[in-house]
Amino acid sequence: MANLSTEFLGIRSPNPFWLASAPPTDKQYNVERAFEAGWGGVVWKTLGEAGPPVVNVNGPRYGAIWGADRRLLGLNNIELITDRDLEVNLREIKEVKRKWPDRAMIVSLMVPCEEEPWKKILARVEETGADGVELNFGCPHGMSERGMGSAVGQVPEYIEMVARWCKQHTRMPVIVKLTPNITDIRKPAEAAKRGGADAVSLINTINSITAVDLDNFAPEPTIDGKGSHGGYCGPAVKPIALSMVSEIARNPETHGLPISGIGGVTTWRDAAEFIALGCGSVQVCTAAMTYGFKIVQEMIAGLSNYMDEKGYESIEDFRGKAVPNVTDWQYLNLNYVTKARIDQDLCIKCGRCHIACEDTSHQAITNMVDGARHFEVIDEECVGCNMCVNVCPVEGCISMEPIAGVDPRTKKPVDPDYANWTTHPNNPAVWAKEAAE
Ligand SMILES: Cc1cc2nc3c(=O)[nH]c(=O)nc-3n(C[C@H](O)[C@H](O)[C@H](O)COP(=O)(O)O)c2cc1C
Ligand code: SF4
Ligand code: SF4
Repeated sequence: MANLSTEFLGIRSPNPFWLASAPPTDKQYNVERAFEAGWGGVVWKTLGEAGPPVVNVNGPRYGAIWGADRRLLGLNNIELITDRDLEVNLREIKEVKRKWPDRAMIVSLMVPCEEEPWKKILARVEETGADGVELNFGCPHGMSERGMGSAVGQVPEYIEMVARWCKQHTRMPVIVKLTPNITDIRKPAEAAKRGGADAVSLINTINSITAVDLDNFAPEPTIDGKGSHGGYCGPAVKPIALSMVSEIARNPETHGLPISGIGGVTTWRDAAEFIALGCGSVQVCTAAMTYGFKIVQEMIAGLSNYMDEKGYESIEDFRGKAVPNVTDWQYLNLNYVTKARIDQDLCIKCGRCHIACEDTSHQAITNMVDGARHFEVIDEECVGCNMCVNVCPVEGCISMEPIAGVDPRTKKPVDPDYANWTTHPNNPAVWAKEAAE
């Protein structure tokens, strides 16, 4: 049986599944039930500085995007950091850590961008016995207008400065949580590393408006006739999170910097993908909010089965295995040629593949043959784009097959050797190089 236990920055947890800083981690009652359900750790809902707690809206605070089956695909929120008293939070954190010593207890923090407030709050958190802190430089709404959250996370110099203060003023490991609301995610990660941060976590939520109410013409969620952008999360953001994680994992400047992966993790497979891209732990928010704490049991069972099947004894056995296979477009093998294949026994003759291919300008799938509905790939036209696979409602009905010999479309032999754009005869850079020689 695979061993799921992890040690991230020296912080041990029985599995890599941590609850992300959000409503599920905002109080002792929740966190203890989460630990009973099996979560390996939590990042406590972001604490602010001492004083009157922040004030949330009292109207709706969520917007959503659903699939056709009403499954929640994306969630948007306009919630702020904790609106509970700092002292109460600190007391509860201490109590929970004392009762659950084997679980990771990270405390998320967001205070004004000055050294003194950071120094003060770090000392208070240290007294609780928490395992580490996560600096919330990510919230895209409410706090950013006050010069915190993503207002800091969008300026690498600020990230570096605050990370450095934190490392000076605490012996706890410091994780910097990154905002995805930035053009090049490598820059804030590099800044965090320069500032001495022990790790980065990503992604926080994405600026978004999920819908506009067409009766009262206001964004949703609508508060008394007005709406504002909020933070987007859930399954819809996973592709963005994976890409950003991979950028940091393969950037020579940050390669090896520990990463806690966040964004749309709903199943064990999602988590395994983040781990394959180098993450040492994964954090979950929307899935726990949608399906409850017990969803972690499916994640644990699924990951454990996968690792047993593959013969991986520990998370480290496959962590980062996908990183060397993430490359830039120019290095992809242009001699790799595929054609779509339709399994006629599985085909229900819905015609969606034909329409997609016909209107996607390739015209490579029949719809009528000898007066009957029949869907067959025309190899002479198929460019191997796989759009038909993506629209077919029957899983496994259309597959992509690599071909050898002569490509019926180009009428040229398929070269078995790897070759990419950097040496392709159509590449103007190649002509320029040849002319210079
Ligand atoms: C209602 C809500 C509140 C959140 N509050 C915080 C917060 O206080 N601090 C923080 O760092 N992230 C906060 N987040 C972001 C999550 O921690 C996480 O980064 C994000 O939701 C992506 O993960 P997911 O796709 O699993 O939800 C919040 C998310 C939601 C939905
Ligand atoms: S792979 Fe692309 S070109 Fe080929 S049949 Fe499918 S949609 Fe058409
Ligand atoms: S989309 Fe799939 S099921 Fe529908 S006709 Fe094409 S191959 Fe058959």
